[in-house]
Amino acid sequence: MNKPLRIALTKGRLEKDTIALFEKLGIDCTAVHEKGRKLILPVADGKMEVVLAKAADVITYVEHGVCDIGVVGKDTIMEMKGKFFELVDLGFGKCRFAVATKKGSSFYSGYNVKTIATKYPNVARNYFESKGMDVEIVKIEGSVELAPLLELSDAIVDIVETGTTLKENGLEVIDTIAPISARLIVNTVSMKLKQQEIEALIKMIENNI
Ligand code: PRP
Repeated sequence: MNKPLRIALTKGRLEKDTIALFEKLGIDCTAVHEKGRKLILPVADGKMEVVLAKAADVITYVEHGVCDIGVVGKDTIMEMKGKFFELVDLGFGKCRFAVATKKGSSFYSGYNVKTIATKYPNVARNYFESKGMDVEIVKIEGSVELAPLLELSDAIVDIVETGTTLKENGLEVIDTIAPISARLIVNTVSMKLKQQEIEALIKMIENNI
């Protein structure tokens, strides 16, 4: 039997949405439902293998060719870039990159260099560069909304889904940077060596999203 097609999924919500999609395609994912603490799981009667990883690691594994395919958010792709094919917008995991500040703050006024807190320093840097605005970026690992509340930063660049976190903390969106959703990415060599298999899977997915 050929080596199974190896697919890295971003653990958590994207993993659940992808497994739901696979099951809609008739791919048996019992091993994923019964995974316990296992991280590599055979699906589709052993024809495919699901690898569960953190978003940034999904990109690393696909770039290095140890996984053929990956499912990862556009947010991580925009932050990390990398060499792979981004082939399908899966339509789930929808949210947006936004700039937010404390309600009513006049972020764009004055000449002082503004401080931006974010988990996505490259996305933030590129965005403000594109606006010709000089900013200082502070990298935060989580709950970025704290930074303006603690007066570490003038604004944040972060993911907004429902907007609840901003609202409950007295913050508001002042700019939308880009829409985000889950993407299917493919290793460039796998795309050549396993073309038929990968194209067949992509076709099935495209007919079902
Ligand atoms: C993300 C993001 C926001 C929140 C937005 O955080 O960084 O904090 O979700 O969602 P909402 O608009 O629906 O309120 P996540 O839950 O990933 O946790 P983290 O901040 O600890 O990384």
